[in-house]
Amino acid sequence: MEKSLVIIKPDGVSKKVVGKIITYFENQDLNIEKLKMMKISRELACKHYNEHRDKDFFKQLLEYITSGNVAVMVISGYNAIKKIRDIMGPTDPKKAKAGTIRGDYGTDITVNVVHGSDSKESAAREIKLFFLNNS
Ligand code: CMP
Repeated sequence: MEKSLVIIKPDGVSKKVVGKIITYFENQDLNIEKLKMMKISRELACKHYNEHRDKDFFKQLLEYITSGNVAVMVISGYNAIKKIRDIMGPTDPKKAKAGTIRGDYGTDITVNVVHGSDSKESAAREIKLFFLNNS
């Protein structure tokens, strides 16, 4: 049983596809353990995306992820991290197949609807960041 942090980004919320996106995960036998709506602060965004701080797209990434409400979830299940990444499709929606979340709703590599943890270590770190005190 694994856990992953999943964020439905501002484009997913503004397109009103939060419910549809949750259904992609539930249909693959994954469990929505926690779910909250929030606006990510610049400080939290910097911590969450710390590994990308030296990349040329970092500023754009921060601007975007802090631009509107997001839905943040802890999702659990067997092999959840890989399963979720397969359901989301590749980071760049132009490379994503129809039937994946990014293939169906993504716009570009920044405006790409969802984030999912890329490893067990990232998942533990990200869940701690977003669900402080287990709340
Ligand atoms: P996400 O899964 O949230 O994790 C890091 C994000 O950085 C990624 O989705 C993309 O939105 C963004 N990203 C990754 N690579 C690039 C890139 N080459 N140019 C712009 N944004 C990128």
